[in-house]
Amino acid sequence: MKIAVMAGDGIGTEITAEAVKVLKVLGLGMEMEEALVGGAAYDAHGHPLPEATLNLAKTSDAILFGAVGDWKYDKLERQFRPEQAILGLRKHLGLFANFRPAICYEQLTHASSLKPELVSGLDILIMRELTGDIYFGQPRGRRTATDGLFPGAEEGFDTMRYTRPEIIRIGRVAFEAARKRNRHVTSVDKSNVLETSQLWRDTMVELGKEYPDVTLEHMYIDNAAMQLVKEPKKFDVVVTGNMFGDILSDEASMLTGSIGMLPSASLNDKKQGLYEPSHGSAPDIAGKGVANPLATILSAAMMLRYSLDQAEAADRIEAAVKKVLAQGLRTPDIYSVGTTRVGTREMGDAVVKALG
Ligand code: IPM
Ligand code: MG
Repeated sequence: MKIAVMAGDGIGTEITAEAVKVLKVLGLGMEMEEALVGGAAYDAHGHPLPEATLNLAKTSDAILFGAVGDWKYDKLERQFRPEQAILGLRKHLGLFANFRPAICYEQLTHASSLKPELVSGLDILIMRELTGDIYFGQPRGRRTATDGLFPGAEEGFDTMRYTRPEIIRIGRVAFEAARKRNRHVTSVDKSNVLETSQLWRDTMVELGKEYPDVTLEHMYIDNAAMQLVKEPKKFDVVVTGNMFGDILSDEASMLTGSIGMLPSASLNDKKQGLYEPSHGSAPDIAGKGVANPLATILSAAMMLRYSLDQAEAADRIEAAVKKVLAQGLRTPDIYSVGTTRVGTREMGDAVVKALG
């Protein structure tokens, strides 16, 4: 088992260190190698995804990823911005299946901005397609408009596109995931307006026939965004394209009130995966030792489960996280009166201890 550890920027280094600590204690004998990525890689090598980092990613079974980005890189040309590292890794490794669970932990029900009864016990899975859609579609660019409302004006344009096989493969992952859960898939699109979405829906309807044991429902993206805050527990697995998934997964994460708790996994068809917390690099609190490492620790658990066939070790980590929450330990992002405030390192140490 070879793991590439890419801590990245901001709080990335602190939270990744805690996840690595937990993995080492498990004693599974995995080989871990570190590489620079994002702004840190740009500063050192002039590129957010240097050749050596990409090569390490390609030759590893899994990537444990922290976070990338900092305001100081906002003015760089797009190709040099930290985000390009994550987009590049997704593209080069073909990480098309993005699992973004939104789970509301019992002790954190009150952290949500929604009423506790709406989110208590919430457990949904956003399945986002990650290598297609308007994110990667060509052509794209800036040019002078030759038609439309303002011919001669400067215009920006992107291309939304999906091929049928791309839709089928993410659809299959969603149906298979639903089989291990509550057997309900909501496919989200905008087929009342977009051709790409009509193909998406037609393909999902076809594919759904192969999974008669799973209930398939279709929803427009605008309605899904609304239903997600109206009655989130109605959902089980939500499958959608790259851009809609980007938006819905941020929305879903907030239902739980604690984005610092949510892991994610991005897999290719060889089960190689990139594992990262759902939150960003939070440069405002970087280096202060207050970031919540639990999302990254839970991402390491997902890594053990999905890429490394170590379900038992994954269970142990997840149980340990529940235990530290039950003990009342809280980083500032999830702190409430009556609980015990701890820092990044103390939280990591507590998880190690709770592994048993
Ligand atoms: C995410 C992020 C990325 C995305 C950015 C950083 C490119 O928002 O992983 O959701 O849009 O996919
Ligand atoms: Mg996003």
